[in-house]
Amino acid sequence: MNDLAGKHIVLGLTGGIACYKAAELCRGLVKEGATVQVVMTEASEQFITPVTMQALSGRSVYSSQWDTREANNMAHINLSRQADAILVAPCSADFLAKLVHGGAGDLLSLMCLARPIERVPLLLAPAMNREMWAHPATQRNLQQASADGATILGVGSGFQACGETGDGRMLEAQELLEDVVAFLQPKLLAGRKVVVTAGPTFEALDPIRGITNHSSGKMGFAIARAAREAGADVALIAGPVSLATPRGVRRIDVQSARDMLAATTAATPQADIFIATAAVADWRPATQSEAKIKKDGSGAAPTLAFIENPDILATVARSDRARSGALFCVGFAAESHDLLKHARAKRERKGIPLLVGNIGPLTFGQDDNQMLLVDAQGEQELPRAAKIVLARQLVAEIARRLPR
Ligand code: CTP
Repeated sequence: MNDLAGKHIVLGLTGGIACYKAAELCRGLVKEGATVQVVMTEASEQFITPVTMQALSGRSVYSSQWDTREANNMAHINLSRQADAILVAPCSADFLAKLVHGGAGDLLSLMCLARPIERVPLLLAPAMNREMWAHPATQRNLQQASADGATILGVGSGFQACGETGDGRMLEAQELLEDVVAFLQPKLLAGRKVVVTAGPTFEALDPIRGITNHSSGKMGFAIARAAREAGADVALIAGPVSLATPRGVRRIDVQSARDMLAATTAATPQADIFIATAAVADWRPATQSEAKIKKDGSGAAPTLAFIENPDILATVARSDRARSGALFCVGFAAESHDLLKHARAKRERKGIPLLVGNIGPLTFGQDDNQMLLVDAQGEQELPRAAKIVLARQLVAEIARRLPR
């Protein structure tokens, strides 16, 4: 993937054992297409060498404000002006305190202070012992840094190098990478609340067996992620899938269509957008046995009867808020043929402003997809691309259609 293509990130390292994660983070940033300039404090060099960071970033590392490599001898100015973002990972308690006081005694703090504040964002990934993290001085400094325009990426919780367990670990490289990618996305849905359904449903026959389908949930999860990246508050109502929850997304796990309906109708009254990507089972077994259905030895198979499940999207689309336009509903159609015809008819039938058509067998379980957007004005194709790329395009299309 190339989520950071064309971006230049200054990666600052300060003194902390979490420097070991900075190596992987640097590699991840480069893999996503960013150019990375590493700047290290003296303390950070106690934990990881500039050689490692140079090899991973492909650029020589800066650590001194007296570096003569810069023609004007102003590394702090040059480096900060070129950056799309400065990411300090790990950010030690000491470095945070320095930032808050406007300290500029080393290249990294000098560069942070000298950055054009409105143009070059500063992202901090704190890393420290849990007592240091909980200390009122640190908490006060975090608030002040945030008030001064820095973005605090939060911390993880768990086993710490010191042997204690608690808050203050630096986030994992993959989490930080996702946060940086998200941070740089346009905030098209800032302040909006989005509900997404995703994955299959599972309709139990007995405690052991049930009926489900091949939906992987990947498209819905990608949309939840893209909506979150665009600044929305996202609730993801997921059928049984084994996918990681996108960062910052609230996930509600459900099994059956009726569970999904209950979770959806609880969430949509506060929402601005509802996106139904779930492959909801159209029917469920008419009866659900409390005990496992056993073979009776006669060789006869049981006869199964089905009843129709509620249509979650149609139910939400009939609500007053959806009808008034306060809740924008998006449906998906997974078809096997005649996509345009079916997509148009389904949009009408479901009573929704936007329907996304795709060919089921070409998308289920895949990492890419192609889409046909159908609304009252006509159709628009989104050509085959990675699901996260399509999800971001869809989010932009939805944002464009929202009432101001
Ligand atoms: N959907 C839903 N609840 C259902 C069935 C479908 O919310 N019980 C939603 C899906 O999440 C999707 C859209 O409705 O957004 C289209 O679903 P689909 O099953 O493809 O359409 P159907 O109305 O079932 O039509 P058909 O079976 O004829 O294709």
